[in-house]
Amino acid sequence: MKLILLGPPGAGKGTIAALISEKYKIPGISTGDIFRKAVKDSTPLGIKVKEIMNKGELVPDEVTCDLVKERLGQDDVKNGYMLDGFPRTIPQAESLSTFAEIDIVINFICSNDVVISRLSGRRICRECGKIYHVTNMPPKTEGVCDICSGELYIRDDDKIESIKNRLEIYKEQTEPLINFYKNLNLLKDIDSSKTPKKAMEQITEIL
Ligand code: AP5
Repeated sequence: MKLILLGPPGAGKGTIAALISEKYKIPGISTGDIFRKAVKDSTPLGIKVKEIMNKGELVPDEVTCDLVKERLGQDDVKNGYMLDGFPRTIPQAESLSTFAEIDIVINFICSNDVVISRLSGRRICRECGKIYHVTNMPPKTEGVCDICSGELYIRDDDKIESIKNRLEIYKEQTEPLINFYKNLNLLKDIDSSKTPKKAMEQITEIL
């Protein structure tokens, strides 16, 4: 099973990716997570993409496609995988089609008001990456991860200006992928504005 999770920032892709991984035993590949780790480790890639990400802009297609192509060459994806946050432009989707055959694209549908409120309250564990929300999905102890006791942090691109920029870029550059995959008969819509449980019920039915 080879999946793409498509949808605006804050639609819940990362949250649901963790649930799909657990249920279907396939790895999730998040280009955002890979870039954030590179920034944290101050690798040459991280230094290159740091400012781009903070402003909420997209990393150049060539850099992103090379990275995903290399990741899909690793052993753990042999029985399937899930791409979260890739592709996000038509050139990325065209490039992907030259080195991978995708079975289903899950399109997360969620209004701008909902995603803004979700991103403004998002907290992430610095150690294990678990995603929380200050009111929707709070940790048991404020600022501390339930799973590993790691410190929770706010992503640099979850400031309101970056969020607005990311939503605009999504509309201009990523939304055209909906028709791209619809035309290939791969697109399945889900309403991701409800609880993660409700989103998973829809996905289970699709898969
Ligand atoms: P990336 O990390 O991919 O970010 P994104 O697509 O903007 O998506 P998010 O991670 O913000 O949101 P999400 O949908 O995963 O929501 P989440 O589950 O966390 O990309 C970051 C940056 O990296 C880009 O801006 C770009 O610079 C670069 N980049 C990455 N990929 C690239 C590419 N392919 N090309 C070029 N550049 C690239 O949920 C959000 C919040 O809502 C959380 O607090 C969560 O707890 C809460 N929540 C989730 N679901 C629910 C629910 N059902 N009910 C209530 N609350 C919920």
